[in-house]
Amino acid sequence: MKAFIENLPKAELHVHLEGTLEPELSFALARKNGVALEYETPEALLAAYDFHDLPSFLAIYYKAMNVLRHEQDFFELTWQYLQKAHQQKIVYAEMFFDPQAHTSRGVPFDTVIRGIHRAQERAASELGVQTKLIMCFLRDLSAESALQTLRQALPYQDWIVGVGLDSDEKDNPPVKFAEAFSRARDAGLRLTMHCDVNQQNTLLHIRQCLETIGVDRIDHGVNSLEDPALCDIIRERSLGLTVCPVSNRFVVQSLTAAEIRRMLDLGLRATINSDDPAYFRAYLNENLLALHQDGGLTRHEIVQLVKNSFLVAWLDDESRAEYLLQVDEYLQRAA
Ligand code: HPA
Ligand code: ZN
Repeated sequence: MKAFIENLPKAELHVHLEGTLEPELSFALARKNGVALEYETPEALLAAYDFHDLPSFLAIYYKAMNVLRHEQDFFELTWQYLQKAHQQKIVYAEMFFDPQAHTSRGVPFDTVIRGIHRAQERAASELGVQTKLIMCFLRDLSAESALQTLRQALPYQDWIVGVGLDSDEKDNPPVKFAEAFSRARDAGLRLTMHCDVNQQNTLLHIRQCLETIGVDRIDHGVNSLEDPALCDIIRERSLGLTVCPVSNRFVVQSLTAAEIRRMLDLGLRATINSDDPAYFRAYLNENLLALHQDGGLTRHEIVQLVKNSFLVAWLDDESRAEYLLQVDEYLQRAA
């Protein structure tokens, strides 16, 4: 199964580029940029990773970003992830970035997106890995800040496929960002939002995503299983759910394997993703392998999850069909 998963052509739809910042790159950028770190070595930094819920993760995640200052830093971050993705047989990725986490530190929007975009172009030409970018608003900042960020992004609209919503969900419901998402939709962007696992008012938040915002996808969304009416809507609209099992193991102490299986049984388009792989120490293959080894998911279920990623990806029909064919050809060879 390990080799089967490793060689299977895959897509990733829920990965935060800032969450791919490996301790070694942190140290290299800190040295280059003259930024002081609290730890002596990458190993010591890694040993200090101590997350047990969303806020404790986010505190470490935002602090670490301080080493990202220049266009080349965002290039390196993205390029390292895309090389890793290529090694893992990820042929297509939709990647999140958090511009407000950088503009709030004085790093221009243009610096961030140009560095990322340059790495995307290199990955396409040198590695054959196709990627798209999703801009996330930070939900613990104001609605006005989200609108301002959307205005900053519109000149680069050709480089962005959609918008998302991340960071601390507590007291920051989807409807807080109704205007920013409505404007993004009018500009032709796709919409997704995090509904993190076991958050306060999670069913209300999922309902707002579906009824008020009109999302094209939900990130995490595991708690939708608790309400059959929400499941019906998600199934009828063929909405993808981007589940992140190893992330869940850190943040809610469960791989949520039983929930993922239940989604498949209900005909929901669950997909598997790494979220913040440098922090949770698991890229996509490790997530799939954990689901098999620790969660008991079968080869058939793993294949369905991987196919779902291509089915719900923001691809044109022709590309989608090509990727699904790649998977089917692989399955025939592996049979
Ligand atoms: N949830 C909310 N915010 C985040 C996450 C997440 O999983 N990862 C990075 N920022
Ligand atoms: Zn996430």
